Amino acid sequence: MLVNWYPGHMAKAKRMLQENLKLIDVVVEVVDARCPMATRNPDFESLFSGKDRIIILNKADLADQSVTNAWIDFFKAQGILAVEFVSTKSSMKKKAVEIISKAAEEKVARMKAKGVVKVVRAMIVGIPNVGKSTFINCVAGVSRAQVGDKPGVTRGKQWVRITPHLELMDTPGMLWPKLENELYASRLAYIGSVRDDVLNIEQMTLGLIEVLRERCRSKFELRYSISIFNEDTDADVLHAICKSRGFITSQDEFDIERGCRIILDEFRAGKICRLSLDLPSEIANEES
Ligand code: G4P
Repeated sequence: MLVNWYPGHMAKAKRMLQENLKLIDVVVEVVDARCPMATRNPDFESLFSGKDRIIILNKADLADQSVTNAWIDFFKAQGILAVEFVSTKSSMKKKAVEIISKAAEEKVARMKAKGVVKVVRAMIVGIPNVGKSTFINCVAGVSRAQVGDKPGVTRGKQWVRITPHLELMDTPGMLWPKLENELYASRLAYIGSVRDDVLNIEQMTLGLIEVLRERCRSKFELRYSISIFNEDTDADVLHAICKSRGFITSQDEFDIERGCRIILDEFRAGKICRLSLDLPSEIANEES
């Protein structure tokens, strides 16, 4: 699947990020728990070297819990703290504050040892649609106690006080996905992180059907009241779903567009099954 992602936006995003980086001590990278590899920016290491950092495996409510646990172990083995998260739950605010505070812990201790009283500043970064803004809203709440412009801070930047030692930039840093890896690009499309209007919806949906019938066949069948046989093609499955849902055009043909839209929307909303697309075992296979 060939995916294009606006190069103009990428250049602007990179410029803004580099400008903001000077102000930041801790980087909080938000990724999608269903695709922690596909939703990571491959330039991350070089962009943020020297900064304390933490990974938020967001949308954990849509991912397979056991795979999320495996990802947490995977990152831990690399010396990176990763935590699962659901930003849409306002009850997670306390956990969010703890996570960011933990990420800043070492820095605060180092500065304290030097007798320096300086507030540590954190920034949320991630590719589009991983839930950066929702995460910030979860931490900051609706009544954002903005600290406001300060000397040495680019005009217009707002900081939200998290603890007496920690402030969070209220606008997230936008990273961009690398789409050269076809597998990751497809998964980004499935979860809705690439604008659908630059994609071939039918081709994308057939790819997703292939994954769903392989990884969660019975829940997939149940959701659409269909039976999938091994000899069925992915297009047969799509037709069966159109038939089951009554998506038939006035010319008595399958309404493919409507069928595709419903499968994509329902998958993205977690209505078919909780599914992790990236698996740590794939990395192990790649490496070996
Ligand atoms: P971004 O800033 O990284 O671009 O992402 P944003 O916060 O705008 O979130 C993108 C979509 O992901 C939103 O849904 C948001 O509600 C949803 N989302 C964020 N965090 C979570 C989570 O932990 N779990 C689940 N299930 N969804 C999450 P949307 O449909 O685009 O908007 P809306 O329905 O919230 O209006």
